[in-house]
Amino acid sequence: MIIKIDKVLEKLEDEIDIIKSKLIKTPKMISISDNLTSATRSYLKSQKKIANKYGIDFSVIETDDIVKDLNKYNNDKNIDGIFVSRPLKNKNYQEIDIARLLNPNKDIEGLSVYNMGEMVYENEYFVPCTAESAIKILENCMDLEGKNIVVIGRSINVGKAAAIMLERKNRSATVTITNSRTKNLKELTMKADAVIVAIGKAEYLTKDFIKEGTYIIDVGINFKNGKLFGDVSKDLYDKNYYITPVPGGVGTITSTILMRNVFRAAIKNIKQ
Ligand SMILES: NC(=O)c1ccc[n+]([C@@H]2O[C@H](COP(=O)([O-])OP(=O)(O)OC[C@H]3O[C@@H](n4cnc5c(N)ncnc54)[C@H](OP(=O)(O)O)[C@@H]3O)[C@@H](O)[C@H]2O)c1
Repeated sequence: MIIKIDKVLEKLEDEIDIIKSKLIKTPKMISISDNLTSATRSYLKSQKKIANKYGIDFSVIETDDIVKDLNKYNNDKNIDGIFVSRPLKNKNYQEIDIARLLNPNKDIEGLSVYNMGEMVYENEYFVPCTAESAIKILENCMDLEGKNIVVIGRSINVGKAAAIMLERKNRSATVTITNSRTKNLKELTMKADAVIVAIGKAEYLTKDFIKEGTYIIDVGINFKNGKLFGDVSKDLYDKNYYITPVPGGVGTITSTILMRNVFRAAIKNIKQ
């Protein structure tokens, strides 16, 4: 069965409307890239489309040196939110350098070291958008307290962040986080009430891994022969399992959270 995301989307849009009503100017977001490949261009094109939908002024900044640009845009009062496109090309800096440098008040993706730290202290405001998306969808399906949740994948922006937020006191799920070296994945997933899968392997998760009645949040976005696939196999798309679709599931909520965060950043910008 497909997990519907409309209620989650509605709540986010309500939040955007409330913030919008408090703003007197159009929020401004920039996406900085030192690596404008065709895949990045296509992703940023979809960002522009959704930014336009919510009335956000959006620009792409192409640069050879993101660090130099961040030093400038971090303090530019005209810019509310900054998105740094990955993968990075310039070898003079790594993702952690960007995470240390990015102004936390403009960190709409929730990836700065400061905002990550706040998340660990259970003070969520700007948190990694994809992880927030997965959790919002799951929370809309079940009360998380005491549930066994297996997170497949430990990337900082998705798996690890989702695991940290799931086990915080006001959610209190029991979380198992796995990685590519995990030996007994099937044993773990078979006992799960819910699984969040974020590994980047098309249709990896099959019926062999999952018992009936399990909720599955599919984060994967994978292209195979020009076609889009999640990390979940189509054999799980039947009435006995609950699954977020790809496309139209986690990705849709993630982009809306990103836009909501531009509005939040605009409010922070006014207060500074
Ligand atoms: N929908 C959205 O909004 C959105 C946003 C971001 C990403 N994504 C998609 O989500 C997927 C994951 O993205 P990511 O950024 O988290 O990827 P990533 O940085 O490549 O991390 C993948 C993680 O999966 C783990 N892994 C790989 N094979 C595994 C296996 N067989 N069993 C258990 N763990 C395994 C890796 O383990 P090791 O650490 O041991 O290598 C790694 O921790 C991709 O398809 C990406 O395109 C979607």
